[in-house]
Amino acid sequence: MLEGKKAIVTGAGSGLGQSISVRLAAYGATVIGTDVNEDGQAETKALAGGAFEALHHDVTKTQDWDAVFGAAFQEGICDILVNNAGIADMTTIPDMSLEQFRKSCAVNLLGPFAGTKAFIERVRAAAGGQPAQASIINITSVAVKKTFPIYTAYGPSKAALGNLTKALAVEMGRKGDFIRVNAIAPGPIRTPMTEGVDPTPWEERDHRMLQLIPLKRYGEKNDIAEAAAFLASERSKFMTGYTVPVDGGWSDI
Ligand SMILES: NC(=O)c1ccc[n+]([C@@H]2O[C@H](COP(=O)([O-])OP(=O)(O)OC[C@H]3O[C@@H](n4cnc5c(N)ncnc54)[C@H](O)[C@@H]3O)[C@@H](O)[C@H]2O)c1
Repeated sequence: MLEGKKAIVTGAGSGLGQSISVRLAAYGATVIGTDVNEDGQAETKALAGGAFEALHHDVTKTQDWDAVFGAAFQEGICDILVNNAGIADMTTIPDMSLEQFRKSCAVNLLGPFAGTKAFIERVRAAAGGQPAQASIINITSVAVKKTFPIYTAYGPSKAALGNLTKALAVEMGRKGDFIRVNAIAPGPIRTPMTEGVDPTPWEERDHRMLQLIPLKRYGEKNDIAEAAAFLASERSKFMTGYTVPVDGGWSDI
């Protein structure tokens, strides 16, 4: 499905980013996985095999993005960017400082914006005057539509990324290129992020929220990875500006 394609996946050293990297590589893509988590990156490389290159990258740093694109476009075009890296600071308003709020926006929104802007410039330059082709996928969250008290910074940063997805899709379409921009909004999935936001061991938590999800289960990391592979591929070539919910039917009900 992705033979001959090259992809950048941010936050590739853990959870969903790791699964997306492994899946894209399994479908034939060469994957440049980026993360600040080097141990996790080594794990992803072991799972994805030779088609995976790990780069140290903080999405909030412009110079890090430059280095990633330098590597990704060194030998021709890079077709796919998955803005997956994210943080979930589940602090309620009384305890949240402006600095914490800024940090959530820096990683979840401003980093993807900076990377996407530079990616589009590179893709266009590599196309050499021909219509450029690429697929950009932003990982947002069910928090775009469902609101809990702890989503003070996480929800707004992800909602803004969802809206940016639409803005970019419209602008890219008007330019006459085939640069598609879509998002995936995952429902709850067990990863280091969701395990880390609550000190209670996973097995001992109150899991009654599952009753609210029509499919009555947590998602699997691969559910998101398959959706990402579809949006990255030509099979979704007439889709742009969408946020695809992968959440067991939860967010619209
Ligand atoms: N797991 C879920 O239930 C769930 C649900 C909805 C949305 N999401 C979103 O999916 C994405 C992946 O989440 P996950 O559950 O795999 O989390 P995770 O914590 O397991 O993985 C996130 C990765 O992002 C990396 N990262 C964090 N800040 C970074 C930075 N500044 N620069 C580069 N890398 C950075 C981390 O090192 C980590 O490897 C996130 O954007 C998250 O908000 C997850």
